Amino acid sequence: MKLWGGRFTKETNELVNAFNASLPFDRRFYKQDIRGSKAHVTMLAKQGILTESERDVIIGGLDSILKDIESGALPFDETSEDIHSFVEANLIERIGDPGKKLHTGRSRNDQVALDMRLYTRDEIDEMDTLLLSLLKTIYRIMAENVHTYMPGFTHLQKAQPVTVAHHFGAYFEMFKRDRSRLKDIRSRMNYCPLGAGALAGTTYPLDREYTAKLLDFDGATLNSMDSVSDRDYIIEFLSAMSTIMMHLSRFSEEIIIWNSNEYRFVELDDAYSTGSSIMPQKKNPDIAELVRGKTGRVYGALMGFLTTMKGIPLAYNKDMQEDKEMFFDALDTTKGCIQLFNGMIDTMKFRKDVMEKSAMAGFTNATDAADYLVKNGVPFRDAHGIIGQLVLLCLDRGISLDELPLADYQAICPVFKEDIYEAISLATCVEKRITLGAPGPAVMEEVLKKHKEYLGL
Ligand code: ARG
Repeated sequence: MKLWGGRFTKETNELVNAFNASLPFDRRFYKQDIRGSKAHVTMLAKQGILTESERDVIIGGLDSILKDIESGALPFDETSEDIHSFVEANLIERIGDPGKKLHTGRSRNDQVALDMRLYTRDEIDEMDTLLLSLLKTIYRIMAENVHTYMPGFTHLQKAQPVTVAHHFGAYFEMFKRDRSRLKDIRSRMNYCPLGAGALAGTTYPLDREYTAKLLDFDGATLNSMDSVSDRDYIIEFLSAMSTIMMHLSRFSEEIIIWNSNEYRFVELDDAYSTGSSIMPQKKNPDIAELVRGKTGRVYGALMGFLTTMKGIPLAYNKDMQEDKEMFFDALDTTKGCIQLFNGMIDTMKFRKDVMEKSAMAGFTNATDAADYLVKNGVPFRDAHGIIGQLVLLCLDRGISLDELPLADYQAICPVFKEDIYEAISLATCVEKRITLGAPGPAVMEEVLKKHKEYLGL
């Protein structure tokens, strides 16, 4: 059923109907649409615009529609233009005349603005729960690996020794910030646009603050034109999702590298890997690759919608219906990626011996060897040069600094004593890093305590 046939003398072109319709995708927020309508009629009755019995009949009808959509008894009839028309037409079919009063003092413009906010808010909460669960997995891995040494990299070259706890701790911070971004967006958008009407409010004495309260908003929006045409919060959310995906993608890239035949730092669980149709030996990190790959479409949704919005004059224009499909795709993609990624790292095994050996082999303790000299009175710049020469010597012989005989150390600089080996052992190198935020076990335990509190564990 159409909500607007009155002033038309011709049937709408069939292609126009299909082109214009949003039901195929806005049906996903039927629950929010019905919730908004119930709040609206509750407010209308409180203001004496509807009688209490009209309110009750309408709410009864809306509840039965909700029930029937959920049970599948009421399939979405594709002849409706959008979810709003679908629910209203169905209501009128079910309860007759009172149903025709549902839309009093309301336009689809403020209705869709409300639905999108309600839906976005629910999605923010769901995404937050998924991030929290990912953070719990990262925390567990950190707590179990305070003493698991691995090389830390810069330029993808071995730099200084760190621990798995420290490396994962970096991602803990990123996803923690992602959560706080979601929280900010939620609080900024949490104002109710209903009552803005088509663009200029309405002549009915609506109690907008009351509707806002019924729907758990912090208040009503303050400008009706902005209320029906603001989609900033979707752009912000798309941007936050892009950042989450960027973090997941970097992490995925590392796992792909660690899982490679050359590195062998980790072993992905069979349940989270895939095989090759031709090469029987293969076990591929497809999940990590897909997460990395899907990042592109979330960025695409952000760019696409920014572009859609950039030339739209106030107030509502149909362009804004384009706020849905790519946004929904971005939501599904991001939520799916967080979930899959979480499962993948939760089941991943660390080859601690390989990681440790790799940290030893890459001169990651060279800075500590230089620090040893500094502590024994050699200026840092000279120490840097001396260790450089020793590294060259080791490279020549294919050995690590730990394996270089003391005589060779002393031949280049007599300051070296037997305790150099202790000073450059991996354990010492990590343990000596005692500044807050460093991998040293004592400070790491402090950080873990803060994380535990943050996670409510
Ligand atoms: N399907 C429309 C949208 O998503 C609903 C609002 C329609 N309003 C209008 N005046 N045509 O934006």
